[in-house]
Amino acid sequence: MSEPGLSNLLTETRRFEPPAALAEDAIATDATYDAAAKDRLGFWAERAGELQWSRPWDEVLDWSKAPFAEWFVGGELNVSVNCVDRHVEAGNGGRVAFHWEGEPDGDRRTLTYADLLVEVSKAANALTELGVQAGDRVCVYMPMIPETVITMLACARIGAPHSVVFGGFSAQALVDRIQDADAHVVVTADGGYRRGSPSGLKPVLDEALQRCPDVRSVLVVKRTGQDVDWTEGRDVWWHDLVEKQPETHTPQAFSSEHPLFLLYTSGTTGKPKGILHTSGGYLTQVSTTHRYVFDLHPESDVYWCAADVGWVTGHSYICYGPLANGATSVLYEGTPDTPTQDRWWQIVERYGVSILYTAPTTIRTFMKWGEELPGAHDLSSLRVLGSVGEPINPEAWMWYRRVIGGERCPIVDTWWQTETGGIMITPLPGVTATKPGSAMTPFPGISVAVVDNDGTAVGNGEGGYLTLTEPWPAMLRGIWGDEERFRETYWSKFAGQYFAGDGAKKDADGDLWLLGRVDDVMNVSGHRISTTEVESALVSHPSVAEAAVVGAADETTGQGIVAFVTPKGSVADEVSSGEAFVQELRDHVAKEIGKIAKPRQILIVPELPKTRSGKIMRRLLRDVAEKRDLGDVTTLADPTVVNAIGDQMKASTAED
Ligand code: WTA
Repeated sequence: MSEPGLSNLLTETRRFEPPAALAEDAIATDATYDAAAKDRLGFWAERAGELQWSRPWDEVLDWSKAPFAEWFVGGELNVSVNCVDRHVEAGNGGRVAFHWEGEPDGDRRTLTYADLLVEVSKAANALTELGVQAGDRVCVYMPMIPETVITMLACARIGAPHSVVFGGFSAQALVDRIQDADAHVVVTADGGYRRGSPSGLKPVLDEALQRCPDVRSVLVVKRTGQDVDWTEGRDVWWHDLVEKQPETHTPQAFSSEHPLFLLYTSGTTGKPKGILHTSGGYLTQVSTTHRYVFDLHPESDVYWCAADVGWVTGHSYICYGPLANGATSVLYEGTPDTPTQDRWWQIVERYGVSILYTAPTTIRTFMKWGEELPGAHDLSSLRVLGSVGEPINPEAWMWYRRVIGGERCPIVDTWWQTETGGIMITPLPGVTATKPGSAMTPFPGISVAVVDNDGTAVGNGEGGYLTLTEPWPAMLRGIWGDEERFRETYWSKFAGQYFAGDGAKKDADGDLWLLGRVDDVMNVSGHRISTTEVESALVSHPSVAEAAVVGAADETTGQGIVAFVTPKGSVADEVSSGEAFVQELRDHVAKEIGKIAKPRQILIVPELPKTRSGKIMRRLLRDVAEKRDLGDVTTLADPTVVNAIGDQMKASTAED
């Protein structure tokens, strides 16, 4: 594990006070922090009390089986009732839940909460007809369309945990996830629209299912109308099965700790982890954070989280948080540059978006495209801007504030993870001052530390590892099927503390600056990809003997994947030195994992630099990849190897 680097910190930092106009009417106030500081569990219990429970809980937190937490023990609720029925019953059925916008321009659909209730009820009835019962895992492999959220809510309604797999993942990645979760039903679509053309989802799923004999039903939404293969008896069209269902469904309440979903994420080994989230605590934290962090006024705000629902940000801040709060959201299917690079700003203008939540990598892309594009649109409806997924560099933060936020919108840089379920470190608009590049302070009721190698908290002005020191409501309840890995990954480095895998620094005021991962997890455009996962994909190619992968700093994507590959001796030099070979390896990684894991650059090298004990020197490879001077190489078994690679790197240009 490498020490967190502290070099990228600004010594002089600007500070912005919360805007007075917003503070006047803000949802969270100083009193919110005070209440949580005085009585953490009482604070969370009060928040949970804002949800609708069928049976009250007996105990707020049971931590006696640490690191396995139980929150709101004995309580019972139905998550979909909290996200949908409750708002209709309160008289808000006419409020828009989603303004959906497909990528092909003009493709629009509006769903009110009353519409959503009908759709979710029908989908719940359909899943039940397919034999799905409480506790069964349902795999969801979908584009960004309303049916995706409807499916998630329908699963929640019948107590069947969903496992959403991002639509960009490959057949092999799907196989791994379907098998690990032991899902027997999959919901998918023929395809979706991305970059101006239909992508195929069902064909990828069909390929995966050749290796998943236990999947008995596939429910298919017709989105693009492409021709798809059909397996009679297994495949069923959504419009055939769901549309004929009764429009009402009587929900059952489930225990607060009933599994709500699994979401696979990359860890430091090749095998993705199925992160398990449950119901009551999760919904409490995602609804509370969504309301406080974005200062959500559900009657007037139009909120847009531009993540994909296949990642945790989409689960917590497109689906569960906003819906629990009765928010009106925008849901957009496609990419920001289709058909033109101002698509997002057209959307903001059309719907009067007041809260926008996106990732630094997207902001940096917009910076490259130029401020004329947002400048040509009326963005005056925006009030609050959020950032998530990776450290935001001060330059991107300032651009976001000035060009998108018109200098008036506070920026909330929110740190959290798939494992934390909800936002953990963030400013609160209306209360907390902000600094470009800092996530500032823990959310009320969340306990965070920055510790040194021994697990001792460091002082202001010092850096170390980020840990979470008290259990929190939305915390993961484990890794699916692997209790030991859960303890080992998160709880073994520092006794009694959750190790997040991130480096952090406390500045002179005690505010927090996140510094990126300290383990073998890369962050590419806000997507978590492990170096080992990409290495495993590369060595599964018949011509590859060995591979080492590192994340190298990238101006736009945060990090880019750089791979060093030694071909097998049987591969002729003319083959391995050719462009076609590199291209074949990149495609192979895309096939094994997905396009998001395609290395930016692959260097074919005769040997990898290793220590005398045979360990690959990743630090050196990272230096090579970032074209830094290599410093001390005396611990290497053969120092000439790395010099040769370094020369090759300097002579090369990155792909793409
Ligand atoms: C990184 C995404 C700095 C971090 C919600 C974390 C961040 C990983 C921030 C989790 C932020 C997320 N500042 N780094 N505001 N937000 N990260 O599971 O390294 O996809 O550990 O969850 O993203 O990624 P995940």
